[in-house]
Amino acid sequence: MMTANEIRDSYLKFFESKGHVIVPSAPIVVKDDPTLMFTNAGMNQWKDIILGTKEPDPRRRTDSQKCLRVSGKHNDLEEVGRDSALSHHTMFEMLGNWSFGDYFKEGAIDYAYEYLVDVLHLDPKDLYVTVFEGDASENLGRDDEAAGYWAKHFPKNHIVNGNKHDNFWEMGDTGPCGPCSEIHIDFRPEEEKAKVPGEELVNKDHPQVIEIWNIVFMQYNRKADGSLEPLKMHVIDTGMGFERLVRLMQGKSSNYDTDIFTSIITEIENLSGKKYSHTFPEGPNGEGTNAEQKVDIAIRVVADHLRAVAFSIADGQLPSNAKAGYVIRRILRRAVRYAYTFLDQKAPFMYKLVPVLVHEMGGAYPELPAQQELISRVIKEEEDSFLRTLEKGIQLLNGDMDELKKNAKTQLDGEKAFRLFDTYGFPLDLTELICGENGFTVDEEGFDREMAKQKARARNAAAVENGDWVEIKNGEQEFVGYDYTEYECHILRYRKVTQKKNTFYEVVLDHTPFYGEMGGQVGDQGSLVSENETVDVIDTKRENNQSVHIIKKLPQNIEADFMACVDTDKRNASAANHTATHLLDYALKQVLGGHVEQKGSFVSPTTLRFDFSHFQKVTDEELRQVERLVNKMIREDYALDEHRNVPIEEAKELGAIALFGEKYGDKVRVVRFGPTCEFCGGIHATSTGRIGFFKILGESSVAAGVRRIDAITGDQCEEAIYQVEDTLKAIRALFNNAKDLKATIAKHIEENAAMKKSIESFRQQAVERTVKKLVENTINVNGTTVVKATLPIDPASAKDIVFKVREKISSNLLCVLGTVHEGRPALSVMLSDDMVSEHELNAGKMIREAAKLIQGGGGGQPHYAQAGGKNADGISAAVDKVIELANL
Ligand code: ALA
Repeated sequence: MMTANEIRDSYLKFFESKGHVIVPSAPIVVKDDPTLMFTNAGMNQWKDIILGTKEPDPRRRTDSQKCLRVSGKHNDLEEVGRDSALSHHTMFEMLGNWSFGDYFKEGAIDYAYEYLVDVLHLDPKDLYVTVFEGDASENLGRDDEAAGYWAKHFPKNHIVNGNKHDNFWEMGDTGPCGPCSEIHIDFRPEEEKAKVPGEELVNKDHPQVIEIWNIVFMQYNRKADGSLEPLKMHVIDTGMGFERLVRLMQGKSSNYDTDIFTSIITEIENLSGKKYSHTFPEGPNGEGTNAEQKVDIAIRVVADHLRAVAFSIADGQLPSNAKAGYVIRRILRRAVRYAYTFLDQKAPFMYKLVPVLVHEMGGAYPELPAQQELISRVIKEEEDSFLRTLEKGIQLLNGDMDELKKNAKTQLDGEKAFRLFDTYGFPLDLTELICGENGFTVDEEGFDREMAKQKARARNAAAVENGDWVEIKNGEQEFVGYDYTEYECHILRYRKVTQKKNTFYEVVLDHTPFYGEMGGQVGDQGSLVSENETVDVIDTKRENNQSVHIIKKLPQNIEADFMACVDTDKRNASAANHTATHLLDYALKQVLGGHVEQKGSFVSPTTLRFDFSHFQKVTDEELRQVERLVNKMIREDYALDEHRNVPIEEAKELGAIALFGEKYGDKVRVVRFGPTCEFCGGIHATSTGRIGFFKILGESSVAAGVRRIDAITGDQCEEAIYQVEDTLKAIRALFNNAKDLKATIAKHIEENAAMKKSIESFRQQAVERTVKKLVENTINVNGTTVVKATLPIDPASAKDIVFKVREKISSNLLCVLGTVHEGRPALSVMLSDDMVSEHELNAGKMIREAAKLIQGGGGGQPHYAQAGGKNADGISAAVDKVIELANL
C-alpha cells in the first residue's frame, strides 16, 4: 500500500516526467491581495499570470498546494467532521498541474487519464467524468470539445453533463474562471454497482461516489458587472484532493482512516481517553444521533482543525480579533468547543497534538518543525483564554436558565442566545445542547433575526464596491521606484471604488516610481502632474503585483502625459525605517539568539514596528544591547548593496533570510547592509547612516511566543529626546534647579515619608486626648452612659475615637460623634454590645434617620454606623436626634 507521502511524490514525479517544473506550495495565508485571505485553490498564486500581468515562465508547473476553505466563496468549515462522505476539510492539500498557454483541454485530459489509470492503476470502469452542459444566462454552450477528448478514453455513459454550479469553476466573485471537468470515482461494493449505475450517483452526495480531481479550462475573466471577458491565454488549472486520493489508494472508507490522520486520531484517543469508532454521522445535519457518532465527529473536527491552525500559524497568521486572524481564532474555538462538549476536555489539550502533526507532515512542510514551539505556545494560549470565556458563558447561561425557571418559562430568548454567541463564542447548537439538557428550548428564529441584523451592520460598515477596470491604454506596468522618485507616465486603466459613501479612483500607470503597500511598508504618497493639472495620490496599494494609485478625482484629460512624483520626505523616512528593521532583525538575532524569526513588521514615515518569535520578555539590558548594536551599524554607514532578479537558490546561498509564510517568485531581490542580508522588495535608505539614530520606544507581547518592538529613527528621535529634555527641565525647575536632581528627589521622598509618620503620630495623640476628655464628660441617662460631642476632625479620626471610647466603656454605652471636616459633616454612632442585644438598638437604623438632618445618608452594622452629609449646620441637631431615637 502506498503511503500518503509516496502518493504525493508519485504525482509530482509523473508531471515532472511530462516537462513540468515542481514548484513549492505558496503560503496558506494570502498577503497583499484584498480579495482573498487564504489560499483556497492551487491557482491563487498564479492569478497574475492567468490575468496576463506577468510572463509565464516556465509554462508547465506542478505542485501540492496547502489550501484553506473557510471563508468567502469556498467555505467548507461547517461540513468538516460531519459531511456524509467524510471528505471535506478546512486545510487540505491540492495536487495541481498547470499549463500557461501550453497544452489545453486535450493534453490535460490525456495526462489525467494516464496518471490515474496507467500509473495508479485505477480501474477506468469506476471512473466518471463530468462536462459543462452550458448555461443560457451566460450565453455559453456545452463544452463539446472536452466531451470529445474524454470520449477517447471513456464510453458515453461515463461522461456526465453537469450544470454551472458543478462544472463552471470560479475563484471568487470576480477573476479567472472557466468550464471544468471533474473526475469522480465509484468505490461501492460490486453488488451495489450492479443495482444502481454509477453515473446516476455522480454529484449526489453519495459517500462512496466522490469527486477526486477537477480540471479547469480557464478561458474567461469574470468582471465586476458579472460579464465574462475571454482571457488572452488559455490556462489549465487542475486540483486533485490529496486526502481523497490517499483514501482511495489506501482502500479506506473515509479520509480520516488514512495515514494522513491516523496518528493524530490515535493521539487524541490517548489524551482524551475516548475511542474513535469509525462511524458515519447520521441526523438531518450530520450532527450525529448517538454518543459514539458525536465523539467521532469531535475527534475528526479536532484532527482537521489542528492542521488548519498549525499551518496558518507557521505561515505567519496568528489568531487575533480581526480579518484572517479572526478566522483562525474561530476555527480553533470550534475545535475547542467540540473537545469541551464531547471529549470532556476542560483544559487545553490541542497543543499537545502538535508534535505528532509535525512528525507526520514536517518532512513535506519544513515550516512546521522549524516553528513547532511557537505553534504549540500560540495554540495553548488560545485554548486557555477561550476555555475561560466558555466557563464565563456557561455561568451566564446558568443564570439565564434560573431566571426561566423562576418565571416558569421554557424557552430562552433569541437575543440571549445571540449574546452568548457574539460575546462568548457559543454557537447556537452549544446553547441548545446545554438548554436541552436542562429541559429548555431556544428561540431559533429570534437568534437568526439578531444574526441577520449583525450581518447587515457589518455589511454596511465594510461595503466596498469595486467598479470594473476601464482600459485607457494597452500594456503592463513597469515599477521604476527603486531608481527614481519621479517618472514620466500614462494611465493604463482605472476603476471607481465606493466605500461607505466615499468615492475614489484606483489608477494603474505604465511606469511608476510609487511603491504600493507591501511587506509591512506603507504605500507612497505624492502626485500626478500634467501640463494643466495636479492630482494628489493619497495612497498606493498593491494588487496582482502592481502598484495601484489611489486618487480622489480623475484628471480631466485621462490620456495626458503625466509626471508621477513621489513625496520624497515621506518616502525617505519610510525607507530609513525599513532599513532599520533589517538592522534590528540582525541585532535581535545577535543578542537574543538564532531562534528569533520575523513575524511581522510595519514601516511608515513616522514609526516602525517589528514582531518576532521569542519566548520571554526582552530585558531592559538586552534592549539596550540591541539599540547599541543597531546604532553602531548606523554609524558604520553601510551602503545599500542590492541584487535584483537573483535566482532563489543563489539568494539562499548568499545567506539571505527568507520569511516563513512569504511568497517568493523564482527570482528574488536581495538587500544587504553590512552583515545583514534579506529577501526584500521594499524601499531602503541608500546607506545606513541616513537612518541617523535608532531608539526603541517599547517592548510588548503580541501573542504567546511573539514579542513586539516599537521604535523610531531620525528626526522622530530628535523630537523624542526634546520631549524628555523638556520634561526633565520642568522637573528640575520644580526642585529649584537642583544640581543633583536624583538625590534631591530621593531626599524629598524621604522627608515626605518622615512627615507623614509624624503627622500620624500627632493625630494618634490628638485622638487619645479627645477620648480621654469624652470619657471624663459622659452623661448618665437612665443607666446608659451617653457620650456626645461635635468636633472639627476628620472621619478616620472619628472612627478611631468611637472605637477607643468603646474599649473604655464596654457596657451601657451610646456614643454619638458629630464631626465637620473641610466643610463636610459626618456622624458616627457606637453602641456597646448589650445595648444591641438587650435594648434592641440599631446604630445603622438610627443613623439613617438622623443623617437626614445633615442631608446625607449612611449605614453600617447594628453596633457601629457612619454617615456623611452636605449640611454642616445640621450636625448638632443630628447628634441630638440619635439620642432622641435611642429613647433611653
Ligand atoms: N481551481 C480548481 C479547484 O480548486 C482546480 O477546484
